[in-house]
Formats: sequence, C-alpha cells, structure tokens
Amino acid sequence: MNPALLELRGIGKSFPGVKALQGVDFTVNAGEIHALLGENGAGKSTLIKVLTGVHPADAGEIRLGGQIIRPAAPKDAERFGISTVYQEVNLVPSLSVAENITLGRQPGRLGFLNWRAIRRRARAALARLEVECDVDAELGSLSVARQQMVAIARALDTQARLLVLDEPTASLDEREVAELFAIMRKLRTDGLGIVFVTHFLDQVYAVTDRLTVLRNGQLVGEFATPDLTRLQLVGKMLGREVSAADFSAGATARRKDSGRPVLAAHQIGRQGAIAPVDLTLHLGEVLGLGGLLGSGRTETARLLFGIDAADSGKLSVNGDVVKIDSPRAAVRHGLAFCSEDRKSEGILPNLSVRENLIFALQGKRGVFRALSRAEQTHLCDHYIKALRIKTADADTPIKNLSGGNQQKVLLARWLATQPAMIILDEPTRGIDIGAKQEIEQLIAKLRDDGLAVLFISSEIDEVVRNCSRVLVLRERKLAGEVIGAELSTEHLMQLMAGAHE
Ligand SMILES: Nc1ncnc2c1ncn2[C@@H]1O[C@H](COP(=O)(O)OP(=O)(O)OP(=O)(O)O)[C@@H](O)[C@H]1O
Ligand SMILES: [Mg+2]
Repeated sequence: MNPALLELRGIGKSFPGVKALQGVDFTVNAGEIHALLGENGAGKSTLIKVLTGVHPADAGEIRLGGQIIRPAAPKDAERFGISTVYQEVNLVPSLSVAENITLGRQPGRLGFLNWRAIRRRARAALARLEVECDVDAELGSLSVARQQMVAIARALDTQARLLVLDEPTASLDEREVAELFAIMRKLRTDGLGIVFVTHFLDQVYAVTDRLTVLRNGQLVGEFATPDLTRLQLVGKMLGREVSAADFSAGATARRKDSGRPVLAAHQIGRQGAIAPVDLTLHLGEVLGLGGLLGSGRTETARLLFGIDAADSGKLSVNGDVVKIDSPRAAVRHGLAFCSEDRKSEGILPNLSVRENLIFALQGKRGVFRALSRAEQTHLCDHYIKALRIKTADADTPIKNLSGGNQQKVLLARWLATQPAMIILDEPTRGIDIGAKQEIEQLIAKLRDDGLAVLFISSEIDEVVRNCSRVLVLRERKLAGEVIGAELSTEHLMQLMAGAHE
C-alpha cells in the first residue's frame, strides 16, 4: 500500500501557559479533501502552523510521502510542496494581482524584475483554477472573494502536493463558496491532498471525504465524513452528547418589542452605497438586516454609525434629530458597532486582551477619566467568563488567541460600553457551534434587558432564529420587510434573491 501523503504523529506544541497540542496524529491521503474540525481554540490553526513551519513542534514527527520532513519556515514547507492559505489572508492590497501571486519568489536577476515572467506565472496559476482575473488589477480593488482566489492561486504557484485552507469561506457568499468548492474538487482529481478548516457543517458534508476532530489540543478521532451524523459530529467537537433540541431552541422565544423607537432613520442614503431607506429600531427588539453579499447591509450599518457620511436623510435618537458624523458621535448617542472585519477594523493585534476589551469604553469616557486597574480587571473577569473567552489571562496579546476567541473579545469590547443599541455585523463569523449558541443566547438576553439590536448575518437560519423582524436589502435598495409569522427561511431567500417579482 502507498504511504499516506501526509502523516503527523504525536505532535505536541505549548505556548506559555497553554498546551495548544498534545500527542496529535493527523493523516491526509493524496486525492482527498480532509476537514480539520473543533471548537475555537481547539488547536486547528496551531496544527497547521506546525505543519507549515510557522511554529516548530515540541514533539512528534511529520512525514510527507513517507519521508520525514522538518519544515523550519513557511518557505521550507512550500519547497516540500505544502501550500497554505492562512485564516487571516496576508496579501498586499496596493500591489497588483500578479505581484501578489509571485511575491517573494519573483523571477528576475540582480534586482531586476522580469515583468513578463511575473505576469505569465500569475496567469498560469489563475488558469489552473479556471479563474478569470486581470493580473494587472490592484488587489484591493477586488472583492474579498476574488482576493481569496488570488491567495489560493498564490499558494498553488509552487509545486503543491498538499493545499491547506484555514477557514477560507468565512467571508464568501453562497455562489462564491460553490466556485471555491469546484476548484477544490478539481484539485482533488489532480491528486492533491486538501486540508480544509471550517465551522460550517453544511460545507463539511458537501465537500469533504474524511475528517479529523480536535478538542482542547487533543485528537478526538478520525472519521469518514458520511459515517457521522451531524449530531454525532457536534457531540465529538463539544465533548458531550447533544440532541436536536439543543440547536433548535436558541433564541426563538420571540417577545414583542416595547414599541418604543430608539433609533429612526428617515430616507438615509449614500450615492453608490445604499438608496435612501427608512429604518426604525425599537428598544427590546432584534431587527435583522438581510440580503446577499454586496446588497448594502454593511453600507447601511456604516451610515448609521457615522463611519461614512450620508448624503440624504436624517437620523433621530429617542425622538430627537441628531447628527452622527463620526463613530465617536455615534457612541455618545448610545450606539455600538461590532464590525464584520475583525482584522482591519477590529483588533489591535499587539495589545493585550485587556487593552482591546476596554478600548471602546475608555474612548467613550475620554482621556480624563481613565478606568482604574481594578475596574479594568473587573470588566475583563466578567466578560472572559460570560463569553467563555479562551485565553491564558487578560494580559495575553490578543493576537495569540484563536480567531473565534478574538471575535468574542470584540463583542465584549462593545458590550462593555453598555450601549442602548448595538449593531452586530456577522457576529458569529468564525465562531464554533457551541459558542454560536452562547452568542445567540446572549443576544436574546440583551434584548430582554431592553437593548435594541440590529443583527446582520449571511446565514439565513441564524436571522430567522434571532430576529423578530427583518428588513431585506437587494442591490443596494430596501426590497421588503418580513415580520412575525411570515418570517421563514424560504420567504427570506425569495426576497433576497428577488424571486418574487
Ligand atoms: N502564538 C501564540 N501564543 C500563545 N498562545 C497561542 C498562540 N497561538 C495559539 N495559541 C493558543 O493555542 C490554542 C489553540 O489556538 P488555535 O489558534 O490553534 O485554535 P483554532 O482551533 O484554530 O481556533 P479557531 O476556530 O478560533 O480559529 C488557543 O488556546 C490559543 O490561545
Ligand atoms: Mg483557527
């Protein structure tokens, strides 16, 4: 029998205060798509970083095609044929597509770049994926999905035998996910082994052949995907028996809102971003903002929060017309905005969990009323516990936390300002299924405590579960409103896609 393409045996890796991996085995065959699954902080990204030479392992061995390899840096791993797209895409938006694909391995001699060769190589890499894309376009001008494809093309530019994708679909819409899956299946046919990290169970069942589950840095097991039911799989990840009831109840107990409007937007709009729209948010309400990627959801949120200036309409808070022309003004009026883009608008990577968590509250209070150390500690203890943030302590740099746990710190940052209304833009992106349920319960609790929540999510089921009313946007216009009993997945999908008319 042929040896497996990739075999990791007994991998161990500790960081100060954390055993991120202990005795983990992981095997991937050529021509298979293998899911790597587990809760936030389970060790998925760390295992990948050990494999790709970002972190040296403390214990264990790695074999590729039967040979022991010891990648000491990502460049080594690439040379062995291991190509990786990391959880946080690291490309350069101001450079062209071609430059991004060949960055760091540009053909040329004595400091002169060979532009023809660079373009040719970039085109070949994209052609292999059957992606059409102008190699001279500036990367930053492309959609996130396109940028993702470029990242994959870059990864495959070398002689890849194994492709590693760490949560590549977190910001893609359904059609783009389908495109990515087509690429993955094609590469599988070419004999590549593919490691795929995701928190979406639908995706696990749609494309993967086998899967490996980690929990708390340890191996739970390896399974053929069709052999596990969803509930069995979730049970393996969480380490307890789960029943269907655990995941249907969520926040469904819908309450009638107070009927008291807290935020009202009249014909607020911005050329090219969103056509003038009316929107009223009541205390004690979870209002959904539905729509496909690019429909104008985030744009609307940015207008409400004063990040972008509206060029029409007016806003009122508690009945008074107000001018919200900056996030600072928005915070002063009791608004909070937890952004979908945790990397560029969210975390301060080099600062601690504590500093990240108190950031918005301190900004609200101003420089002359610094939070005391005791107040900071109290806040951190409270939120680390309430949101079950997995961190060694509050003084750990936030960049050391797993992706999902960073997301929880951002949520805590805004809750700490005790807002009257909060905009949550994709609050569960990258968050595991257990924590998702916790966040949904938290949203229900905030609502019951009288907070107004504007909830944006690409996952329709999640919108239906959490909201009592949904405004649907389509092509940067309000397409309709769905309330109460009409609120169903089918109905929302029809409105989002415009299948009605
Ligand atoms: N550079 C680092 N320094 C210290 N601790 C780290 C570092 N990288 C990861 N950790 C810790 O190792 C553990 C595993 O993290 P990892 O990023 O591998 O989780 P994950 O399974 O990828 O989670 P997610 O689904 O949230 O992305 C976590 O407790 C994390 O805080
Ligand atoms: Mg991760």
